[in-house]
Amino acid sequence: MTDRIRLDGKIALVTGAAGVIGTATMRLLAERGARIVAVDRQEGPLKDAVASLPASADALAIAADVTQEDEVADYVRAALAKFGTIDVFYNNAGIEGEIKPITDYPLESFRRVLDVNVIGVFLGMKHVLPVMLKTNSGSVINTASIAGLIGSPAIAVYSASKHAVIGLTKSVAQECSGTGVRVNCVCPGLIDSRMLSAIIDGRKPGNAPTPMERIVDRVPARRLGQATEVASIVAFLASDEASYVSGSAYTVDGGRTSA
Ligand SMILES: NC(=O)c1ccc[n+]([C@@H]2O[C@H](COP(=O)([O-])OP(=O)(O)OC[C@H]3O[C@@H](n4cnc5c(N)ncnc54)[C@H](O)[C@@H]3O)[C@@H](O)[C@H]2O)c1
Repeated sequence: MTDRIRLDGKIALVTGAAGVIGTATMRLLAERGARIVAVDRQEGPLKDAVASLPASADALAIAADVTQEDEVADYVRAALAKFGTIDVFYNNAGIEGEIKPITDYPLESFRRVLDVNVIGVFLGMKHVLPVMLKTNSGSVINTASIAGLIGSPAIAVYSASKHAVIGLTKSVAQECSGTGVRVNCVCPGLIDSRMLSAIIDGRKPGNAPTPMERIVDRVPARRLGQATEVASIVAFLASDEASYVSGSAYTVDGGRTSA
């Protein structure tokens, strides 16, 4: 559609590309004209996700663990070898970790959540930003969460990691002052997804499923969000339409954090 945001000619690198939000987003970016570098730790699901893109899409799949600096450096190298640059970086891979109160939370699980959600986001920016700063243009979009804005029981560690993503985003946006590189994050709310189900089920082990009305009770939109609705905001932030947007944390939460 001609009246929609277009990303023709842009190279977009998406991490967590095999997941619900990553796949929906890389599909939308491809539909809007971007060429895609898809990164995920899970090789099989990553291949399936890339195979599900429109036939016209030009996409490279790279299996990599975002917590390993050599693998991050490798995915950046592979992207440059194939496409020559990176214009859009959707730094999205993340895990929910264990769903437990802090008093029961295993230390190694705490470290793992920080490793993927914070170190992974840090390493991505550390290695992608030099590419963008060379041309003084580019858009980084990190995935935080509304759990990065408010507290939430049984996911304190996840919440801490997403608060860190927002802090990284705002600080790095300032480090990019005076360049054409913009750094923002998205804060999805209750998105219809495996991760949300895992959190809801984890809070009520062994009990009957929580009715949907209770889950969306505090969401003014009175429904779950769809991954495609997160993708729309990422496509906007990726585009030149967002040329004056940097250092922002965009909620995509049906109003959940408005009160
Ligand atoms: N689903 C939600 O309701 C929701 C809400 C707010 C924020 N988020 C955030 O959105 C992002 C995507 O979530 P999702 O719902 O698509 O989850 P998902 O589990 O479907 O996808 C996450 C993807 O990240 C990949 N990944 C995990 N660890 C990795 C690693 N070390 N290296 C490379 N890839 C790795 C997984 O293989 C998976 O494909 C996450 O950062 C999540 O925290 C999700």
